[in-house]
Amino acid sequence: MLDRLKIGVLGAGNIGEALISGLVKASLVEAKQLMASRRSEVALAYLADTYGIRTTTDNCELVLENDIIILAAKPQILPSILEDTEHCFRPGQVVITVAAGISTAFVESWVKNDIPVIRVMPNTPALVGQAMSPYCLGRHGSAVQALVAAQIFSAVGVTTQVEEEMLDAITALSGSGPAYFFYLLEGLIEAGVSMGLPEHLSRALVRQTCYGAAKLVVETTRTPQQLRAQVTSPQGTTHAAISFLEQASTKELIKQAVLKAKERAHELGAGVPKPHLD
Ligand SMILES: NC(=O)c1ccc[n+]([C@@H]2O[C@H](COP(=O)([O-])OP(=O)(O)OC[C@H]3O[C@@H](n4cnc5c(N)ncnc54)[C@H](OP(=O)(O)O)[C@@H]3O)[C@@H](O)[C@H]2O)c1
Repeated sequence: MLDRLKIGVLGAGNIGEALISGLVKASLVEAKQLMASRRSEVALAYLADTYGIRTTTDNCELVLENDIIILAAKPQILPSILEDTEHCFRPGQVVITVAAGISTAFVESWVKNDIPVIRVMPNTPALVGQAMSPYCLGRHGSAVQALVAAQIFSAVGVTTQVEEEMLDAITALSGSGPAYFFYLLEGLIEAGVSMGLPEHLSRALVRQTCYGAAKLVVETTRTPQQLRAQVTSPQGTTHAAISFLEQASTKELIKQAVLKAKERAHELGAGVPKPHLD
């Protein structure tokens, strides 16, 4: 399906590079089908050297030269990029946006020409081919475009089609989700050190425990609750720790923290100008 289609990544930073890397590694496209834009010429030279792709500092050139445009710049600057490039889009293209909080309606209002817009919320495990990337179609999207998005994002992990009204919650849960785990791991490493373990040992123990626990969650049919119950014998060591967390209402705190992220995603979307209509 992606044969011969040219794909341009506008704003090729962390997520953009992860996509480029995944597409090249999976041999889903040839390097020459890919193009990246950003302002830093040094960073573009690195992308060209590493992946053999085409690069440009000119966003308009990127839009003109490609069939599928992936908008991967930060949500705060995307409106001004769309304002500068709106005249470069043409019928027949497909636009994919990964910017947190930015609606398909907003992007559609700039690119016009009934160009299908797909909104995707990947996460940073894309860097190791393990992203979760839910996506939704805008007004002009069809099953064909859904397949295009699924193909591109399955190069860096798992995808699933959702309704757009779920995207802010998804942003808060899986988009920001890796950071919550990293935060927990930071606390565990510090706990190891405060109990007298050397830091390198504490890191090694936590890293492998995290990997093993994640594999258990993914590779068994048991729920996290069942897996936890399995290792929590009454009055045992794990029970002592979990009881302490329960007394501090930790689960409730986690729910409230995720809600804060959802509110921020909503604010980012509300902060952009209204859909641009002639
Ligand atoms: N990071 C995540 O976990 C995550 C998860 C899901 C979705 N997202 C979304 O993905 C998008 C990118 O996030 P990221 O973490 O990859 O950010 P990032 O690393 O900062 O990448 C964005 C890139 O945009 C480039 N840029 C800035 N101004 C530009 C301009 N005028 N024209 C072209 N390129 C420009 C920057 O490079 P130069 O400075 O060289 O221009 C930068 O490398 C955001 O919209 C974010 O909401 C991120």
